[in-house]
Amino acid sequence: MSRHRALVIGACIAVAVLSACQRDADPTSGLAWAYPHGPTSTFGQPLGPGPFRVPDSALVLTRAQLDGAKGPIDWHPDDHPAAPAVVGGPARAGLTPCGECHLLNGAGFPASADLAGLPADYIVAQVTAFRTGARRSANAGQPNTAEMIKVANAVAPAELQQAAAYFAHLPRSRWVRAVETPRAPRTFPDQFGWLNRAPGGGSELVGDRIVELSDDLPRMMIGDDHVVLTDYVPPGAVERGRRVAAAGGGAGTPCQACHGASLGGAGAVPPLSGRPAGYIARTLWDIRTGARRDPGAAPMQAVSQWLTASQIRDVSAYLASLRP
Ligand code: HEC
Ligand code: HEC
Repeated sequence: MSRHRALVIGACIAVAVLSACQRDADPTSGLAWAYPHGPTSTFGQPLGPGPFRVPDSALVLTRAQLDGAKGPIDWHPDDHPAAPAVVGGPARAGLTPCGECHLLNGAGFPASADLAGLPADYIVAQVTAFRTGARRSANAGQPNTAEMIKVANAVAPAELQQAAAYFAHLPRSRWVRAVETPRAPRTFPDQFGWLNRAPGGGSELVGDRIVELSDDLPRMMIGDDHVVLTDYVPPGAVERGRRVAAAGGGAGTPCQACHGASLGGAGAVPPLSGRPAGYIARTLWDIRTGARRDPGAAPMQAVSQWLTASQIRDVSAYLASLRP
């Protein structure tokens, strides 16, 4: 080995040891539950023969109509204005319409994020960060983040503006609930980054996690954007999280100082109230580990450094429990 290479390797080891001291050895340790990923997916599993209906909708679809859909099914067209093609389809080569993963009312899918009522400039900035690499997952290769990165690489600037304007103008409704409980339904992680109910049912300890589950995943899979997500959170988490928000964690600035008195957002700072705990916890950890480091995240970087994994869990439970 040349002396030069030995020096370089030595320096790398020093840097690696240093960063391992500053950060956790496993980039998701303490919060691994927010990064579910498994070997197989329930996505695309055979649906029944139909016809297909969902509550609060007059639409009835045959199996052939469902299979032939070129974008998300619009079960509740009265809920939202007409969606631009980039959101509602038809899909174009290489670009899945936003509504497939974020739903037409912007409530989001387990593993994605809710977009309804986020500031338009913030949406554009985040998609741009996914494209440039300034926003990644703390768990390299986390499959749901990888899906969003594909979209960010494919979407044209004009399409992104249209999508951002669409989601920014949607009302923020209550599509998530937090339930404090020692036990949650038994689950297994899906290949695309969410939890599925375990076949055979049963329950398991929540422990130090949050277990986030769709109340009806098959209906959500066919685009029903009225399905609620349930966050099963440890007993006491909501009140502990309220105190974290009010005190601001170790950084000492209450979350309300920047995110608004009711945590519903303020100007360009995104809302936090009534948002899914799984997403909030994951993204806080991404910010804390530096995987999410676009310039706009700088104020949050400072805040997140002072939050422990259990404070992040509790504040996420509290935020999910709030009305949006
Ligand atoms: C194939 C699925 C998929 C599609 C299609 C998709 N997204 Fe996403 N999106 C995701 C996932 C998954 C995340 C969460 C990533 C994470 O947590 O790391 C996400 C996150 C986001 C975020 C971050 C939200 C926040 O609060 O910071 C924005 C903004 C976003 N998507 C915008 C869009 C737009 C605009 C489109 C359409 C042009 C789109 N997405 C299409 C899967 C998708
Ligand atoms: C000094 C101002 C400031 C304080 C205090 C602050 N935030 Fe933030 N927060 C921001 C800004 C600005 C952003 C947008 C980051 C970006 O553009 O990347 C943000 C983004 C976030 C996001 C990401 C939202 C999304 O849609 O992905 C979360 C989650 C969050 N903050 C949680 C918190 C919590 C919890 C607290 C209190 C413990 C807190 N913030 C305190 C300024 C602040």
